[in-house]
Amino acid sequence: MTTGSRGLHRLEAALSGWDSPWSLCVVGEDQSQKFSQMSSALREPYSETGDGKYIASGFSYWGVASTMAWVHACSDLFYPVMRESIESFAQRWRQIAGELDGTPRHYVSLGTGTGQKDQTILDRLRQGREPGSLTYVPVDVSPEMLRLGQREALRHLDLPMGGVVPVQLDFANVRSVRELRRLVEHLVGDEPVLYSLLGNTLANFTDDTGLLTMLTGSLLRPQDRFLLEVARSAALDEDAAHEAAREYRSSPRFAEFVTSAIMEYTDLHIDMASVEYEPSVEDDRALKVKVVYRNRTGEQVLLTLPDRSGVEFPDGDTIRLLTTRKYSAAGLGKLLADAGAAEVTRTSSGLHSGFGETGFGMDLVLLRPAGEAADEAPAEVPAPNPFG
Ligand SMILES: C[S@@+](CC[C@H](N)C(=O)[O-])C[C@H]1O[C@@H](n2cnc3c(N)ncnc32)[C@H](O)[C@@H]1O
Repeated sequence: MTTGSRGLHRLEAALSGWDSPWSLCVVGEDQSQKFSQMSSALREPYSETGDGKYIASGFSYWGVASTMAWVHACSDLFYPVMRESIESFAQRWRQIAGELDGTPRHYVSLGTGTGQKDQTILDRLRQGREPGSLTYVPVDVSPEMLRLGQREALRHLDLPMGGVVPVQLDFANVRSVRELRRLVEHLVGDEPVLYSLLGNTLANFTDDTGLLTMLTGSLLRPQDRFLLEVARSAALDEDAAHEAAREYRSSPRFAEFVTSAIMEYTDLHIDMASVEYEPSVEDDRALKVKVVYRNRTGEQVLLTLPDRSGVEFPDGDTIRLLTTRKYSAAGLGKLLADAGAAEVTRTSSGLHSGFGETGFGMDLVLLRPAGEAADEAPAEVPAPNPFG
């Protein structure tokens, strides 16, 4: 049997080559636990407002069907949010990249998605470096997304496979994030790392400030940087919130994506007319849109989950499929300050107005750790060797 570094070396050789059918994936956590988390979220009590049963952010992308639905949504002309985010990314990144002070950095992408943005970032980070001196760690909860995103990210780039370590884990889980930091330190030592959370992914989390605090606090060392991309709104009022909801409601592909998880993991008969987009203004910080699936059949439905257990889904009850936000400039400033992250620089796409007067766009912000907490090593037992 081939073991240890010799085995890894041979594995790298097998993975290399443009026509290799293989992709590597380091699984960072117990998938059966994730499965039971999703089931218990669907057993939450009755709520007419989308505050009971829900699909947590990562699970929207978990299976093959959801991954494909996301890929289609990203290129939908009627869903400008992600399409514009992807198309305008290279230009915004060019300005940010100049502020990375020329330091060679490794790259850890939290939520790789379709991989185009990672390709743009890697292309810049590899310039002027020895082949093999750049480590790329794409991280995603969805194995299908990870495979697809990694392939797209590496297309046309001549990165040796030994420097590519895709990791499947839930970055909303603090234990997993601490383990990720240990893994990255095993891979790169003290060399500086650029982390990213792009595509307005942060806005999908109920406690967005808590997630950013946890990620920057657990991952960033003084020499590291964090690239955050979020959606922006020029105004925070009811009209703007309705415009934001309309942006999502107008895309049939987005509706297919957002219902794909309940289609895959329950036996619910999906009626697209039952997908509702509920706009609101969240304090003085963001426009918020909750996308819910409402039982409008007039009677109680019994949902069957993949473990064959049944869940009552009464008339009027909802399943929250997704939460999203667009932040005001002041709201974003407060979010960053509350998360204890210091802004190095920021670029904004032009603010477009889609269905009304309000300007919407994307901000790309480069962050560094603020305060002393970032210097502390995470307190826990040493990580197991992922290849052991
Ligand atoms: C909105 S997409 C953004 C994709 C990409 N970063 C971009 O900007 O185009 C969110 C991505 O994050 C992943 N994701 C969402 N929640 C996650 C979680 N809790 N843990 C790991 N990955 C997650 C999804 O699978 C998806 O690939």
